[in-house]
Amino acid sequence: MSNANPDVRMIEALQGDGKGPPEPDLQPVAGDERIAVAPTIQALTPYEAVSSQAAIEAQPDHHTSFKLDWNESTVAPSPRVSEAIADYLHNGRGLNWYPKLGSEDLIEALEEYTGVSGDHLLATNGSDDALRLICSTFLDDRDEVVIPVPTYNHFMVFAQSRGAEVVTTRGQSAFDPNLQGIASAISDRTRLLYLVSPNNPTGVMYPPEVVARLCREYPKTLIVLDEAYYEFTKVTGIGLVEQFSNLMVTRTFSKAFGLAGLRVGYLAAAPSLIEGLSRIYNPKSVNTLGQVGAIAALNDLEYLESFLAEVRASKEILAKFFQERDVNARLTPANFVILRMPDVDAILQQLEERGVYVRNRSSYPGLEGCLRMTVGTTAQTERLLDRIGDLF
Ligand SMILES: Cc1ncc(COP(=O)(O)O)c(C=O)c1O
Repeated sequence: MSNANPDVRMIEALQGDGKGPPEPDLQPVAGDERIAVAPTIQALTPYEAVSSQAAIEAQPDHHTSFKLDWNESTVAPSPRVSEAIADYLHNGRGLNWYPKLGSEDLIEALEEYTGVSGDHLLATNGSDDALRLICSTFLDDRDEVVIPVPTYNHFMVFAQSRGAEVVTTRGQSAFDPNLQGIASAISDRTRLLYLVSPNNPTGVMYPPEVVARLCREYPKTLIVLDEAYYEFTKVTGIGLVEQFSNLMVTRTFSKAFGLAGLRVGYLAAAPSLIEGLSRIYNPKSVNTLGQVGAIAALNDLEYLESFLAEVRASKEILAKFFQERDVNARLTPANFVILRMPDVDAILQQLEERGVYVRNRSSYPGLEGCLRMTVGTTAQTERLLDRIGDLF
């Protein structure tokens, strides 16, 4: 009989009988049997991650395409990011080691950037990871979550995956903050309220005074303020986390900083909430290059500011262009515009024929006939309008 110690058994298995590696134990897999998805997950509607990336890469002249469908930055990040990553690869500790736990150095850099102390901050694998962590920590079966719509739908999936009941509220106009609707939707059972400011895709804002009022009015509700597009407005509720212990603010390096590919985000909240999150937070969740890249990006805020200025100037060019052509265009405070078109499907197809990829948002409540387009630099905008000008 084999030794009961599992380590010894493993060594025996590796050694085999001295005639080479042991034969794998090939059992036939039963035909139709499938492992069922948990009922809670089966019941939810998955987030539709439709990206033009594959379509663009399939084209021979793909480098001239305009990828304007995911609100990423349209330019590379600060050159300091690639310098810091290259330097790390040559002289750093090496990729064989796990990353710095809890992204310690990044948190230090974020203290300065956000003005919030480190015990209020947690670095995450993109802000989606922060949103998911919040839902996993604070939501359970049948908890009620209020979400004004239309907004970033991925959060709904994170909440529903916990078995929470999502109550959506829709204003008279999609471009209204719908504070009345939020007040009517919130009940004693509401565990969480999700707000995006500026909102994707409408650009609606929830300024700090409004957020503070909501925190005061609903002390038993956790308010999650998603500031993925904060840099484009510089309007923030992040300082309020030092005042309210029912507020969490999430942010990302994926948009204005141009680091979507590295997956780095963070959240800010009262230490009591951070303590709760820490119960399941993975301190290895931000990879080493992500940490190095994000710190380098924070060390070059001049570069960030020059990109933000480009986006502002581009929006002026676009506003003038659409105004002159009587196109129903809404320039949001973030890096995207919403266009309402009489025949949105036809225009989407014509744009794609010209290598311009935008996001169809016409199925969202209150956004019938609407598409969302990312805004880039002025040079890119001029080139874009040269290419699509005849369509409007
Ligand atoms: C409002 C909002 N929140 C969060 C995210 C996710 O960003 P990240 O890349 O940080 O996961 C996005 C991305 O589009 C977004 O629009």
